[in-house]
Amino acid sequence: MQRWRQKKTPFPLFALLFCAFIVASIFYTESNREIQIQVESQASVTDVTSHALFTASLPTNFSNHFPKRLYSDKLDWSKACSSSRNYSIHDGWISSKGKPDLESGSPTRCDVFSGRWIIDNASHPLYNEGDCPYMSDQLACRKHGRPDSMYQKWRWQPHDCNLKRWNAIEMLEKLRGKRLMFVGDSLDRGQWISMVCLLQSAIGNGSKSMSPNARLTIFRAEEYNASVEFYWAPLLVESNSDDPVNHRMADRIIRPDSVLKHASEWEKADILIFNTYLWWRQGNIKLLWSSDEDGVCEELDGLGAMKFAMEAWADWVDSNVNPLEKKVFFVTMSPTHLWSREWQPGSDGNCFDEKTPINMDGYWGSGSDGPTMRMVESVLGRLESKVSILNITQLSEYRKDGHPSIYRKFWETLSPQQLSNPVSYSDCIHWCLPGVPDVWNELLFHFL
Ligand SMILES: *[C@@H]1O[C@H](CO)[C@@H](O)[C@H](O)[C@H]1NC(C)=O
Ligand SMILES: *[C@@H]1O[C@H](CO)[C@@H](O)[C@H](O)[C@H]1NC(C)=O
Ligand SMILES: *[C@@H]1O[C@H](CO)[C@@H](O)[C@H](O)[C@H]1NC(C)=O
Ligand SMILES: *[C@@H]1O[C@H](CO)[C@@H](O)[C@H](O)[C@H]1NC(C)=O
Ligand SMILES: *[C@@H]1O[C@H](CO)[C@@H](O)[C@H](O)[C@H]1NC(C)=O
Ligand SMILES: *[C@@H]1O[C@H](CO)[C@@H](O)[C@H](O)[C@H]1NC(C)=O
Repeated sequence: MQRWRQKKTPFPLFALLFCAFIVASIFYTESNREIQIQVESQASVTDVTSHALFTASLPTNFSNHFPKRLYSDKLDWSKACSSSRNYSIHDGWISSKGKPDLESGSPTRCDVFSGRWIIDNASHPLYNEGDCPYMSDQLACRKHGRPDSMYQKWRWQPHDCNLKRWNAIEMLEKLRGKRLMFVGDSLDRGQWISMVCLLQSAIGNGSKSMSPNARLTIFRAEEYNASVEFYWAPLLVESNSDDPVNHRMADRIIRPDSVLKHASEWEKADILIFNTYLWWRQGNIKLLWSSDEDGVCEELDGLGAMKFAMEAWADWVDSNVNPLEKKVFFVTMSPTHLWSREWQPGSDGNCFDEKTPINMDGYWGSGSDGPTMRMVESVLGRLESKVSILNITQLSEYRKDGHPSIYRKFWETLSPQQLSNPVSYSDCIHWCLPGVPDVWNELLFHFL
């Protein structure tokens, strides 16, 4: 059984600063070798507070709230909120959705998400880091000096059955004539790069291509008429963080009832892989409702705001996805390993220098927020037949050894002080490739 951990005492200031620094690393975007560093509030990713508004839900006629007119692309987000007030439940917004309608989980079906990591250097890694021309400098850990390579050699073994063996040709056949699209944040992008690397070696020279990095980036396998795409939408709904390069914002503003702009891109895909999580863990979010023409924004904590976004997304899925034509997956939260004291009491580090997985069945750290998981579960509960869950949280929780830590490209200049203390700038959020996201894709392959 897992434990939902709660932080009870406030962190000292240095811990907050340290944490904010690490969190900032998820906002690095590589494009033209530019770096966008998000100046973060001091809200901590480990600030686990369940919120009364957790239970706030959307009205039954929620879809009627979709904007009557589509906003123009030219909305000036910097002026979007003329003022802002605390969120209050709108009149008539009575909880009707999100009853925990728990998933089928037929007892005969094996839970492939419950298992353990075993070393299998015969089958893993599934590709070599240096052989993938589409590898990201954020994730190429060996290239950036990581001395150990064991982290590439673990295979996920479910307790009660076996995972289907990865087969790139078979995957490409499944994708023939189709568009596979990953939609979400940089963790989802990591999974997309993993998929491209997993597939590309099976495709001959000349018949594959990658479009320039943009909001929508497309890898094409010509002879299969297939594409594997990534669409940047870290908060799923429309927001002021939608620019894949320039999402450096003092405040985060979302339109909680508008996924339409993004949906017009992703509705063209045949297979969709969504994620969203860490961007909601950065303190309060401003909500700009489509009915609030006067620019009065409401402010809400991340969990409450994420619930609105998930509901809007779920409404889109509910009314637009025919499961016979489209497959939709939702990837649960990707854990972080910011505090080594959680798996090794008394220590004072993070994922830096970790070389082996956590060997403690059911280990659950503070990077994976329990209330968020339960909210996601209840929203997905009503989409049971339309969305498959890739519940990667528990299996990734064990992999404290899987993050880049200091072995990635850092675009900002590191100070001598930082360099003398590797823990201070370690990236314990993203994942090295080859590595953990390859296994997420093996799970995807298993279910396709
Ligand atoms: C639907 O929502 C609107 C608010 O936009 C409200 O005025 C109306 O009464 C609601 N209708 C129903 C049937 O709940
Ligand atoms: C919002 O609520 C918080 C805490 O409940 C309070 O401290 C703050 O003053 C409120 N802000 C506004 C603008 O009402
Ligand atoms: C796998 O590991 C074993 C023992 O650690 C080693 O003897 C063997 O050479 C390795 N095989 C490969 C393919 O690296
Ligand atoms: C290629 O795939 C697209 C869908 O992604 C389809 O519309 C098109 O007809 C396919 N073309 C061929 C030549 O099969
Ligand atoms: C593909 O091209 C690379 C270099 O451009 C070459 O080394 C490799 O042998 C080629 N592979 C195939 C299968 O033609
Ligand atoms: C994912 O699995 C965990 C157990 O590892 C479970 O507690 C959680 O509810 C699951 N999440 C969803 C969305 O099903």
